Amino acid sequence: MTSSNRSKQRFDGKVALVTGAASGMGRATCIRLASEGASVFGVDLNEAGLKETAQEIEGADGTVTVHGCDVSQRDQCFGAVEAAVAAFGSLDVLANVAGVVRFTHTTDMSEADWNLVMTVNLSGPFFLTQAAIPHLLESKGNIVNVASNAGLMGQSYTAAYCASKGGLVQLTRSLAMEYIKQGIRINCVCPAGTDTAMNRGIDFPEDLDWKLIGRFTGQRGFAAPEDLASAIAYLASDEARAVHGSIFTVDNGMMAG
Ligand SMILES: NC(=O)c1ccc[n+]([C@@H]2O[C@H](COP(=O)([O-])OP(=O)(O)OC[C@H]3O[C@@H](n4cnc5c(N)ncnc54)[C@H](O)[C@@H]3O)[C@@H](O)[C@H]2O)c1
Repeated sequence: MTSSNRSKQRFDGKVALVTGAASGMGRATCIRLASEGASVFGVDLNEAGLKETAQEIEGADGTVTVHGCDVSQRDQCFGAVEAAVAAFGSLDVLANVAGVVRFTHTTDMSEADWNLVMTVNLSGPFFLTQAAIPHLLESKGNIVNVASNAGLMGQSYTAAYCASKGGLVQLTRSLAMEYIKQGIRINCVCPAGTDTAMNRGIDFPEDLDWKLIGRFTGQRGFAAPEDLASAIAYLASDEARAVHGSIFTVDNGMMAG
């Protein structure tokens, strides 16, 4: 469908930078935003996965550019924002979706794994936010962070992951207060178990006590990545104009109990 023969969509004329774009929720978010008219700038480490995301969007006549970037590196985060604005002229949405998890006994966690989890899950969103804010102030845009149920509750064997996601929840709240007078919005989605590569690839310690992580599996099974994409799209859209500093659970009820 061309833009002339269809009705206006929520993201027509908007530019969205989405991290984690090669897989899972990030890919689903790119596809969703593009299907609603956004020009999508997809960012990830995984170049092959980025290519697949781009092919899927282009196959549906969407607008997308992909960009290899390690979000744990401050200069690469600034470079990605600069490249997005160079590609599409402005920035309206920053969706911080990329993340990594490590399940391990706390005493077995290496310094390298601690640093990886903290820098990808927390430093990356912070650096991208620093780079994006001048552009978002211009466009009256918004940020959607993807944290986790693990940012709201204690989850065993994931001390670094919980700390990083709890940090992202508080980063969201702090930014929401700092920019409350300036028109931009900052929100956070907290998924629980979702059917993505992250969940399929977890390397659990052999002697793990499953009773300690029973709640993690939830009562209603896994969400689909598209369920999260739809929540992210809502928060990023003008329909959520009164939503600012929200920590929005999309977790099949996990945090209700
Ligand atoms: N899947 C779940 O059950 C679940 C639950 C709660 C929260 N989350 C969170 O949801 C988000 C999306 O995860 P997902 O389930 O789609 O996982 P996923 O593994 O399918 O996707 C994560 C993406 O992040 C990318 N990534 C990792 N490190 C990166 C880096 N340094 N720089 C750039 N990109 C990097 C990966 O290449 C991958 O494409 C993550 O922040 C995750 O912590 C997931």
